[in-house]
Amino acid sequence: MPQKLELGTIDLTEPPGGVVLPVAGAPTAYNADPMDIRYPLAQRTAQIEPFHVMELTKRAAALEAAGRPVIHLNIGEPDFTAPEPVVAALERAARAGHTQYTTATGLAALREAIARDYGERYGLEMAPSRIVVTAGASAALSLACCALVDPGASVLMTDPGYPCNRHFVTAFDGVPQPVAVGPETRFQLTRALLESNWHAGTRGVLVASPANPTGTSIPFDELGRIVEAARARGGFTIVDEIYLGLSYENAPRSALAHGDDLIVTNSFSKYFHMTGWRLGWLVVPEALASAFEKLAQNLYICASTLAQHAAIACFDPASLAEYEARRNEFRRRRDYIVPALRNAGLPVPVTPDGAFYAWADCSAHSDDSWQFALELLESAFMFRWCRARTSATMTRCATCDCRTRTRWTGCRRPSPASGVTCRAANALEADAQRRAATRRP
Ligand SMILES: Cc1ncc(COP(=O)(O)O)c(C=O)c1O
Repeated sequence: MPQKLELGTIDLTEPPGGVVLPVAGAPTAYNADPMDIRYPLAQRTAQIEPFHVMELTKRAAALEAAGRPVIHLNIGEPDFTAPEPVVAALERAARAGHTQYTTATGLAALREAIARDYGERYGLEMAPSRIVVTAGASAALSLACCALVDPGASVLMTDPGYPCNRHFVTAFDGVPQPVAVGPETRFQLTRALLESNWHAGTRGVLVASPANPTGTSIPFDELGRIVEAARARGGFTIVDEIYLGLSYENAPRSALAHGDDLIVTNSFSKYFHMTGWRLGWLVVPEALASAFEKLAQNLYICASTLAQHAAIACFDPASLAEYEARRNEFRRRRDYIVPALRNAGLPVPVTPDGAFYAWADCSAHSDDSWQFALELLESAFMFRWCRARTSATMTRCATCDCRTRTRWTGCRRPSPASGVTCRAANALEADAQRRAATRRP
């Protein structure tokens, strides 16, 4: 006969085994100093730097909270939000109570819609079974690294590049292998660079096209040569196409046209303007789909169910028409901000052909772009993210200790932008005057 559980008679403060559980209002057994933790963090934590843009965002938010006007040119997210059909679909899904988990690879209807879009947009036949829906490209890239990167394995990537890439690799005990790239290759990888940097420990390559922070793309044929070279070495190619929809010069073509063995990621964050909805996807080779599914099941269970239901409406003709109009607006902003930065004394060595970034050289004003960003934030109330990189030699720099380039985003409304460059110019002029004054005997 099972014993009846006497609820309410258990003394939670002294369970068998002597562990003391917290009781509301009572002191815990170990609460002397909340910062005094006596177990070590995993070593990889020390190798992962903060995401600097998020750190600067905190400072800008603090200034704003103190009543200072701040014009945000910092974080890579559109000022647009999801179009009406997507918001309506979200509301319908919430009201219908679609809040349970989906399968790890995502809703069948969403995977089908994404696959169809590859056909309509890029002329590629795509089996929905190759699509794994994820919580943004961030989860997609970490899932890909989990699946492909063994401890100690090296992964080639550009420097400058999206800063989290090296940390996705490090998180799975791989070794990021930055390749210094400069204006001569539009800050992108080439086959020649891949060949000269590939070594016995290299397992693959991770590229983005168009890229963050430079907004430049790899020419389609060159991308094919990169894929071919990695393939010839038995390596993988991961292509981050999160900004592919925001291409301004040529009709965009997906790297997937270069073979079914590629791993490609994309997201609803940028072209679809849904950063906070946390939704993206991977396209994986058919043969690897079940391995990716197994990992996704364990690591994340699934992406947000409500966001998945809503995202199906991103592919409605009305939504797509709005996205295309907004893409034109981003192009217009690029055409404004790049010459404006140049006029303000911040050369942009390569005109971006996609995304919403401009990679400017601030070495004439400062040898520390982080400091330069903070000073502009304090003096001009303008905030843009800076990345620490060397411009003169573009030597490999995985530790971010060289500092002469800055990234500016054009993903914010244009109206303050005119004020921005004036203020930037004023701040730069004041800076130049201050420097001249301190140089005087
Ligand atoms: C190149 C690149 N990849 C991936 C991401 C992550 O995007 P999300 O996780 O929002 O899809 C970003 C975000 O800025 C990015 O710039």
